[in-house]
Amino acid sequence: MSDEKRSSFTGKLGFVLAAAGSAVGLGNIWRFPYLAAKYGGGIFLLTYLVLAVTFGFALMTAEIAIGRKTGLSAIGAFKKLNKKFTFVGWLAAIVPMIILPYYSVIGGWVLKYLYAFASGSAVAAAQDSYFGGFISQTGEPIFWFVLFILITAIVVIGGVEKGIEKVSKVMMPVLAVLAVIIAIYSVCLPGAMEGVKYYFIPNFSAFSVTTVLAAMGQLFYSMSLAMGIMITYGSYMKKDVSLESSVSQIEIFDTGIAFVAGLMIIPAVFAFTGAAPEKAGPSLMFVTLPKVFESMPGGTIIGILFFLLVLFAALTSSISLMETVVSIVCDKFKVKRIPACLIVFFGSVAIGLLSTLGYGPWAGVTVLGMQFLDFFDFISNSVLMPIVALLTCIFVGYFIKPQAIIDEVELAGKFKKKALFVGVIKYFAPICIVLILVSSVLSAFGLFTM
Ligand code: TRP
Repeated sequence: MSDEKRSSFTGKLGFVLAAAGSAVGLGNIWRFPYLAAKYGGGIFLLTYLVLAVTFGFALMTAEIAIGRKTGLSAIGAFKKLNKKFTFVGWLAAIVPMIILPYYSVIGGWVLKYLYAFASGSAVAAAQDSYFGGFISQTGEPIFWFVLFILITAIVVIGGVEKGIEKVSKVMMPVLAVLAVIIAIYSVCLPGAMEGVKYYFIPNFSAFSVTTVLAAMGQLFYSMSLAMGIMITYGSYMKKDVSLESSVSQIEIFDTGIAFVAGLMIIPAVFAFTGAAPEKAGPSLMFVTLPKVFESMPGGTIIGILFFLLVLFAALTSSISLMETVVSIVCDKFKVKRIPACLIVFFGSVAIGLLSTLGYGPWAGVTVLGMQFLDFFDFISNSVLMPIVALLTCIFVGYFIKPQAIIDEVELAGKFKKKALFVGVIKYFAPICIVLILVSSVLSAFGLFTM
């Protein structure tokens, strides 16, 4: 992604697929379902959808337009438009550095489950204690985590992204189809209907500021927003491609996969435990899905295929995360690609170790009451990304002015949702984010309970 080899995507399809490839990953399949389970099901889903068509739409449009207008990635783009805002680009650049290590820890869990299913341990993996037993060890989770990030680093060093792109054009649709099949099966399990209701019918009494914060953090994470990635992607986009409809398509794709993933997991939780998964956390997918596969005819094969496809989706995301960090290290420290890759690899291993150990032998060590993995997730999704999003809104709304983005969008046809865009960027988004940030920081320090 370095500037000298800036090429452009061949057309709209190429752009949409590449951006969707970055967006669709563990966020959709692993993170979305457990947040939906934890924050009240239907009410979370509804909040998420409302935010996606307002916040998500406006922010993604702004980021892609900034990238295309300047032809630069985040740091350079903010600098070119207004020197005083260069720091926003920097702030955005920190986010992938925090995400990459713990993302790879989860990627390691996926590898472990793929291995378990492929080596005939499908029945064992469906036991309640399997996940806890695995995660509380020291060596094994580290092994799978390092393997995952090593694969990522090898691809980034070798630069075989082109091949990855070709394969993902096949794998991603297959993943979508398989997820739909598993979801249909889950919904038909005895006792699953309660779960379907929980997922679809919003219970307004479960609504709180935390719901909005969690949904907003998830939106940024899932759509790879508020970390400069979409600015970089925008810089590769051709001027005659419609920005507005590209954004809609990326959003539909990303939200669609998350939605189906929730349908695959939440009804199954009810079917197997008979209750609402309110204590749900990062382990939800790993505990529930093996049970679904075990009860399914041909479940082992489906399990292997499923974890293989999820692994692939995770790798395409981790590769682009690492690529982003590497290009920043290259530019900033003026080092070559390979040393930069090594720095990022070892740095991420060191930071990721905290997250793996935090679930095992260091379970007693917490930061602000959170284990390391949850803490990194919180800092990036609930603190840094909302701040970057807020600054981006202020920057677009009051410094370069919404008209600059509108002009960029209108290079290829009319901007249909112009009024919505201006309203969200100037008023709705900044006010919401400030309120949410303040309450989340207060509650993290225990000064305010939500
Ligand atoms: N959106 C990705 C997912 O849903 C995760 C992600 C966040 C990401 N930021 C990114 C992927 C930057 C690539 C680049 O899993």
